[in-house]
Amino acid sequence: MSAPVVAVVGSTMIDMIAYLQRTPAAGETIAGEEFALGFGGKGANQAVMARLLGAEVVMVNSLGDDVFAEMTLANFAEHGIDTTHVTRVAGCSSGVAPIWVEADGTNRIVVVAGANARMTEEQARGAVTGLPRLDLVLGQFEIPQEVTTAAFRAARSRGAVTVLNPAPAARVAPELLAVTDWILPNETEFADLARSFGLAVSGIDDPAIVALAGALGTRLAVTLGERGAAVLGADGHVHRIAPPEVTARDTTGAGDAFVGAFGYALASGRDELAAARLGCACASASVTRPGTQKSFPTGDSLHSARTWATTA
Ligand code: RIB
Repeated sequence: MSAPVVAVVGSTMIDMIAYLQRTPAAGETIAGEEFALGFGGKGANQAVMARLLGAEVVMVNSLGDDVFAEMTLANFAEHGIDTTHVTRVAGCSSGVAPIWVEADGTNRIVVVAGANARMTEEQARGAVTGLPRLDLVLGQFEIPQEVTTAAFRAARSRGAVTVLNPAPAARVAPELLAVTDWILPNETEFADLARSFGLAVSGIDDPAIVALAGALGTRLAVTLGERGAAVLGADGHVHRIAPPEVTARDTTGAGDAFVGAFGYALASGRDELAAARLGCACASASVTRPGTQKSFPTGDSLHSARTWATTA
């Protein structure tokens, strides 16, 4: 059987990660403990996770005309990700993300979109329409929503599945919702989405998940950090998936590991519960190591994640 084809129409960032005991207060300077430069951006992270699992991945993105662009292209090449539809924007910086990771592994992220914000609807439409094979498109909120809408519309019209990770939290355009099959928010994004539909939800209980899916008019799975994920199944019931127990070192990119794995599994023809189990396994493995893409499971840890997902 041939590998599933996943297109990621999304962001690339260079992550600049400082590890510290605590974040500084306004006007305060504190000493950090370690620093790491890495490849990030929610789109790129999801692309890498899907690729590590075996998908054929096409990245659709825009980079600036700086050294970060060259580094990012080399990273995609190393992973075997198709960059035919990654454009360069003259006079613009590539996306960057300064990140603080505290002692307990929690993170705070600032994204400076740079060339990501210069992606165009034509670029997305052309890429998605022109691919010889396509099973699924992944989108996020680090590029303009009109671009994701154009990509999803083109994907829908050729029968591919569309999966939106509404991160970082923002109001979803109705045009985008209309062409979205799956929405995968985290807890903060879930609360934001619920508020935007005027739903009075006080937690992520089963009725709240059913109510939000009804308001969105899409399928829905919610990531719950160390509590795993909740998926509204095709049977109309909410299924909760408890992840493998691990000690978190750095949670940056764990949500992207989940989304990339979930997308890969759906594109391979697996059902939503199998997809969420694989997502939880890959996300859990990722938090045990520092960094974003470089924390994603490979080799033995990927094998263990797959095994856990099929036997849990
Ligand atoms: O989800 C983690 C990612 O968010 C980081 O890689 C950073 O670049 C931001 O996009």
